[in-house]
Amino acid sequence: MSEEMKREAAAMALSDVRSGMRLGLGTGSTARHFVDLLGERVRDGLDVLCVPTSEATDRQARDLGIPLSDLDTLDRLDLTVDGADEIDARMNLIKGGGGALLREKIVAAASDRMIVIADASKLVDTLGRFPLPVEVNRFGLGATERAVQVVLSVHGAEGQLKLRRTAAGEPFVTDGGHLILDAFFGRISQPEALSTALLDIPGVVQHGLFLNMCNKAYVAGPDGVRTLVA
Ligand code: A5P
Repeated sequence: MSEEMKREAAAMALSDVRSGMRLGLGTGSTARHFVDLLGERVRDGLDVLCVPTSEATDRQARDLGIPLSDLDTLDRLDLTVDGADEIDARMNLIKGGGGALLREKIVAAASDRMIVIADASKLVDTLGRFPLPVEVNRFGLGATERAVQVVLSVHGAEGQLKLRRTAAGEPFVTDGGHLILDAFFGRISQPEALSTALLDIPGVVQHGLFLNMCNKAYVAGPDGVRTLVA
């Protein structure tokens, strides 16, 4: 998707923001546009207090002068606006392509509403074409990897489990200091059962399935931005 389309989806989400709101700020290239646009509105006097979902978004928001807080200080947020890697027909999501899934999920769960901004290529009938990110503790990586592999077999994964690496070939480390295993499913036919099975593994910190969390999506395509409501 062109940067222009990402920005269009982001601009739509801005219309859901009201003065006085407490906002969760997502991570990724689409969410980045939202934060940029929000920064312009803050400069013009919009009063919001925001919790970023990654160090990258934190830096961006600070540079733009967006007032920031955290979930130790704030009980609840009114709205989180974030991107997604996949959105299915029930508005369930795969997230974590950028590695920020843990903070993204904590922030989304603390929000009354979650709006996703994305392009039409992210829409799927069934989740799983995009590899599911599984965030794991560094300790006992081998044991955790084997346990996740068993879950993959039970849930009919079509491909491999891969430790995510940086372009330089080093293991990718999340903001929380964890590692990511990318699980190639092809199709995830039972996301709820898969979610439970993964979270039952002690070394698994979190995974990128966001189930029943997204209330609305602005999906940009060549013919404009569509609004999907859960
Ligand atoms: C970050 O960890 C992800 O969950 C992103 O929100 C997701 O990967 C979408 O990113 P883009 O907007 O860059 O496609």
